[in-house]
Amino acid sequence: MDRMCSTLVLVLALIVTSVCADEHINFVMWKPNQPELWREVIATFERESGVRIVREIGPHSSTSAHALLAQKLKNRDPNLDVFLMDVIWPPEFASAGWAMPLDELFPVEDRQDFFSGAITACTFRNKIYGVPFWISGGLLYYRKDLLKTYRMKPPKTWDELVRQAKKIVRGERERNRVLWGYSGQFKQYEGLVCNMQEFLLSNRGKLLDLEDRRSTLDNTSNIEAIRYVRDRIIGSVAPRGVLTYEEPESLHLFIQGHAVFHRNWPYAWEIANSPKKSRIAGRVAITLLPHFPKGRSVSTLGGWQFGISAFSRKKRRAWEFIKFMTSPRIQKLFALRASQAPARRSLYMDPEVLSRNPHFATLKAVFDITVPRPLLPLYPLYSDILQRFYSRAISFKDSAVKLLARQADKKVQDLLSLSEAAGR
Ligand code: GLC
Repeated sequence: MDRMCSTLVLVLALIVTSVCADEHINFVMWKPNQPELWREVIATFERESGVRIVREIGPHSSTSAHALLAQKLKNRDPNLDVFLMDVIWPPEFASAGWAMPLDELFPVEDRQDFFSGAITACTFRNKIYGVPFWISGGLLYYRKDLLKTYRMKPPKTWDELVRQAKKIVRGERERNRVLWGYSGQFKQYEGLVCNMQEFLLSNRGKLLDLEDRRSTLDNTSNIEAIRYVRDRIIGSVAPRGVLTYEEPESLHLFIQGHAVFHRNWPYAWEIANSPKKSRIAGRVAITLLPHFPKGRSVSTLGGWQFGISAFSRKKRRAWEFIKFMTSPRIQKLFALRASQAPARRSLYMDPEVLSRNPHFATLKAVFDITVPRPLLPLYPLYSDILQRFYSRAISFKDSAVKLLARQADKKVQDLLSLSEAAGR
């Protein structure tokens, strides 16, 4: 009996020690486009550091992933250490006290290699809350084989795109009955805000006057652009289904060979050109998004950053993981294997990265014209107003766009006064 007791004690002691020695951190991210690569990279970190990563994978949509993360942070969940933040979240996470300031770990000299737009997006009231992982911008993908057959150059204006799309769809009718002209993201979620910003601003529209703290949705250029999307894009060159599309669905239509033009972020390049995943591999090119006659091309700034929860008890380990993930080595790997545009500028001069991603030259030009979404601590509420407004305005042929815009302006105005009162 004695011997049994001491064996039991020994076994218990071993279990306790192994549980204590189980170094792990909890990481929340959104559903990635290249899950195998993520698994592989995380396994490498675990092997090299001896720290286990316990991952919780949220929904793919930025809006839904935000809801999941915000809930945990509101609850001051100590079981959350590291997270991926969309480029629009840092002001909110900073002002709510959810994200830890990283100034000591990520000093100014270490930030030099990163695109300044991404660093600005991570900065709030002179402190930095995130380390950029990849940068993004809206691009126009097109079927270079079809444009060549019809002797067309990539469109510069939206009108040109619509004309070309209609002509190609007509010409291909015998061969491809399910060919559409355009696919993009028009579901009511964050992606809609990105797509619409590109239409509105490329017509010299303006969303917000931050100096006067005034919402300006109801301006003629905006209204014109919204009506254009409603009447000339949706249900015309794009199927009405786009009103329910996020990135994956819209890309699916394109890689199945069912769309001539497609708006997406840089990651879609690898998928569209992979013979295993795409029916149009090798027949795809990218260019800047079109603009209206009086405007210029605009690309919404996107991208994701790593942050540490202010409530984490494992901040040192969390930082080790972030340092690894945002190192030139790992950013390069994601560029090579996932055509993810690195947030580090030096990688755009790396011959291996360039030969695998010849389109990165165009991307550099795109990142020069990217326009951020407004940097507001109450951004998710602001975005929610825009999402509802855009969605109603473009979904119904007889929508009263101007009236809806005025109502949305009023709501944004209330929100701005609320944030002023709250000192945000
Ligand atoms: C991409 C962008 C992100 C944006 C989202 C919208 O993930 O990187 O910034 O908010 O798409 O769907």
